[in-house]
Amino acid sequence: MRTHRCGELTAADAGSSVTLCGWVHTRRDHGGVTFIDLRDRSGLVQVVFSPEISLAAHAAAEELRGEFCVQVQGSVAARRSGTVNPRLATGEVEVAAHELTVFSRAETPPFQVDGHGEIEETLRLRYRYLDLRREHMRDNMLLRHKIISAIRRFFDAEGFVEIETPMLTRSTPEGARDYLVPSRVHPGDFYALPQSPQLFKQLFMVSGLDRYYQIVKCFRDEDLRADRQPEFTQLDMEMSFVDIADVLDVTERMFKFVWREALGVALDDFVRMTYGESMERFGVDKPDTRFGMELTDLGDVFAGTEARVFRAALDDGGAVKCVTLAGRADMGRKDLDALVDEAKSLGAGGLVWAGVTAEGIRSPVDKFFSDDERAGLVKVAGAEEGDLILIVADGDPGVVYKVLGALRNRLADRHGLIPERAKSDPEAWKFVWITDFPWFEYNEAEGRWDPIHHPFTGVVEATKDYLETDPGRVVSKAYDITLNGWELASGSIRIHDRVMQERVLSALGISDEEAQARFGFLLNAFRYGAPPHGGIAPGIDRIVALAAGESNIREVIAFPKTQSATDPLTGAPAPVDDAQLKLLHLRSTAPAPPEN
Ligand code: AMO
Repeated sequence: MRTHRCGELTAADAGSSVTLCGWVHTRRDHGGVTFIDLRDRSGLVQVVFSPEISLAAHAAAEELRGEFCVQVQGSVAARRSGTVNPRLATGEVEVAAHELTVFSRAETPPFQVDGHGEIEETLRLRYRYLDLRREHMRDNMLLRHKIISAIRRFFDAEGFVEIETPMLTRSTPEGARDYLVPSRVHPGDFYALPQSPQLFKQLFMVSGLDRYYQIVKCFRDEDLRADRQPEFTQLDMEMSFVDIADVLDVTERMFKFVWREALGVALDDFVRMTYGESMERFGVDKPDTRFGMELTDLGDVFAGTEARVFRAALDDGGAVKCVTLAGRADMGRKDLDALVDEAKSLGAGGLVWAGVTAEGIRSPVDKFFSDDERAGLVKVAGAEEGDLILIVADGDPGVVYKVLGALRNRLADRHGLIPERAKSDPEAWKFVWITDFPWFEYNEAEGRWDPIHHPFTGVVEATKDYLETDPGRVVSKAYDITLNGWELASGSIRIHDRVMQERVLSALGISDEEAQARFGFLLNAFRYGAPPHGGIAPGIDRIVALAAGESNIREVIAFPKTQSATDPLTGAPAPVDDAQLKLLHLRSTAPAPPEN
């Protein structure tokens, strides 16, 4: 039906006859001549309907409106100088229309497809098929394809095989709730949709398939955020006969290949940082290293302090730390109070601020500081006149990290501390490997030790005997990739020894029977010659969002769910009728919807 794509015509095509198909992007009438911008996936081109070229086509163009779907036959002409549009890729040419066929008329769309303004998100999602016609969404979809295609080419060349794993399966523990699917033929039983293919990819290694990858949907029923969707896509991979360095090497080369192919950027080598260093310097395990403002420990400065909050924190084995906000010593009282409230809402008992001024320290607690402490504070914090020092003290160092880590990111955002860089600048992409995570974290609410990664993560040999005595000291063979403050990927070298796996499950408080019931198939597989293996799973949605410069992964997912996990387009989730429930041996306990 067409000979060319709209966005591909150039001055070299002048004189050719073309047939184009697409949508009416805009329409203008000018001196008895009708101009339309015709749009398809490749871009726009101007089409001219003039009575001098074709009376019939010109008359037919009368009825054209935005978003009509049409076919145009015509000839390409170079635009007269002065009418060239440098903002359009096809701006040097236009198509003189000889014939027009209207495939479908369009009602007035609920929002402008050619507009740049803000459109309410629920509306965009309800009409996603129109939203995807918009330039930035089209670009995001094409970028997503480009990235996935580059990933596949890379892994293919490295000898990986792509194999699918089941969607109807048993629960895989990744720390979220499962989406369940009731079985019709087994009354009362449920499949779980996979939170990840973790256990299956480990079984592939036992099978000898050696190098596996998959672009795969995963499902997690968890609270949604800008970087979380209930269904999302992982690049899942696993390799046999490897140690940490091997997985890091392949993965880093993959990211470099993808960034070169999709964005034309030659990435720098990734920085490597231990979990401990990341927490000390940034307060979080996904550090944004595009700006400074690192956490500074004030334990030495206030070792002998009389200031009550600091004394109490240090005596309790906690920490006193600060971040320094450059040039904000003059922040007004209202903003300072708001910062204190913000710190409290993040879990701190309070926040001590100290402005460094020509007259000395401006702070509500200045009178409790000795001269040495004042001087030490400014020096250790690396502050200069005009800077604002923000101090958090707590008996639990974890609280200090959490509060200052979050404030650091928020303040950088609020005060524009993150340098604007072009995507082509390697400095715009601060990839960091985080390694040497603790294996366990203590879950206060439940009074038990939980895995920081998942239960199949390897244990650093020298720390394995703490499993039974002091779990907090066990170090894992896990690694994450973070980029500009986002967690992009998570992986580990796995346990491949059944006895060791059982020891770890028991340290998690999982009984032998429960372990057999939930993961018996993996434990059994380990009886038949399991190779050392490990892998990683970068999140595709997060990769594409960052590459596209988006701050929410919904912008790079064709049909995402809203913040409350609904799909305004299809109306999912939706009630089903009683007959269907009965077939599945289910009865709803949800209150009946109000009658109206
Ligand atoms: P993890 O649970 O860390 O590890 O997930 C790996 C990566 O998947 C992405 N991700 C998500 N993206 C969008 N929405 C979500 N709800 C969501 N949850 C996770 C993130 C994350 O870094 N089986 C292990 C991997 C392994 O050990 O090989 C796993 O799933 O980018």
